[in-house]
Amino acid sequence: EKSGYEHFMLKEIFEQPKSVHDTMRGRLLVDEGVIKMAGIWDHIEKFKNANRIIIIACGTSWHAGLIGEYLIEEYARIPVEVEYASEFRYRNPIITDKDVVIAISQSGETADTMAALKLAKEKGAFIYGICNVVDSSIARITDAGSYTHAGPEIGVASTKAFTAQLTILSLIALKLGKHNGNLGNADFMSLIAELDAIPKKIEDVLSSTHELVQNIAKDFVDATNFLYLGRGYNYPAALEGALKLKEISYIHAEGYPAAEMKHGPIALIDENMPIVIIAPKKGHYDKIVSNVQEIKARKGKVIAVVNRGDTQVSEMSDYVIEIPETSECFSPIVASVPLQLLAYYIAVYRGANVDQPRNLAKSVTVE
Ligand code: F6R
Repeated sequence: EKSGYEHFMLKEIFEQPKSVHDTMRGRLLVDEGVIKMAGIWDHIEKFKNANRIIIIACGTSWHAGLIGEYLIEEYARIPVEVEYASEFRYRNPIITDKDVVIAISQSGETADTMAALKLAKEKGAFIYGICNVVDSSIARITDAGSYTHAGPEIGVASTKAFTAQLTILSLIALKLGKHNGNLGNADFMSLIAELDAIPKKIEDVLSSTHELVQNIAKDFVDATNFLYLGRGYNYPAALEGALKLKEISYIHAEGYPAAEMKHGPIALIDENMPIVIIAPKKGHYDKIVSNVQEIKARKGKVIAVVNRGDTQVSEMSDYVIEIPETSECFSPIVASVPLQLLAYYIAVYRGANVDQPRNLAKSVTVE
């Protein structure tokens, strides 16, 4: 069942070139210059007339939602809010029949997400689901949706479902942007070509960084804290990297937008603080360079995820993980992969039960 891998999590990390491809299969038709998504197309008026889109989710799926916000606002220019399902359902939110709600859930059974959707539905919102498990409870109460088709995810820590969610959100954002005229044809064509190349880039990352990340992990087995920093699209990727580490290795980790460091977390930095920085070339690179300088001035240990051929951040960093370049908006899909591996190997070397971490369940059906 684990196809020779030691854990489901590792198997699922390595499945991502295929799972992301499966998510796009039949939807992304590069040669025809088309994104086919019946769920969106059949309700295009709902999306076009939406006052705003509210994305509702928990955990890793909520992180995907944050990236979805950046994508949809950038390319479709529709206002987006991202809410934790547990907060949304209990805060008497303002929802109208002009709102479109997008629910993101791997399992399709998360109790808080389900309850939040019921509330939104009662108030007349249109509900769109992004679920992995076919015919799950959430998939059944939505008005329309797109399955992620990542295949069964057994490891409790979500990996391939996350990259599949990002893929679907990318498709939705580009399709809506193309349709409502906010994304010109030339840009649309180049973005879909980039998206189509993502599975190959994930494959590349897996083969070129696997051993390196394993070695890096060995140096951090006894770490007690970690900071993960990123900006723009990679800020949510930093949150997700930190969540992966804490849930399976039990090392305390926090993700932050890099610029927020000076508003508090910088006080934590000394020679004992490992800091993972996501710093691809496209996306506030110069700003990240100064963040790294600030960290190095305080002797923090920097593990940088950069594009191949990078010099500025690399020269200052203690560890460098190189990934291929892609459009800024898709970079979290590629950058997340070495961070999954890093969390995985640190947890393995600490002797943790990677596939079934303590206190966690694969689907959280109680609130
Ligand atoms: C983290 C993880 C959880 C889930 C969260 C939502 O690796 O798996 O944070 O993402 O419990 O679950 P779903 O997506 O099934 O609604």
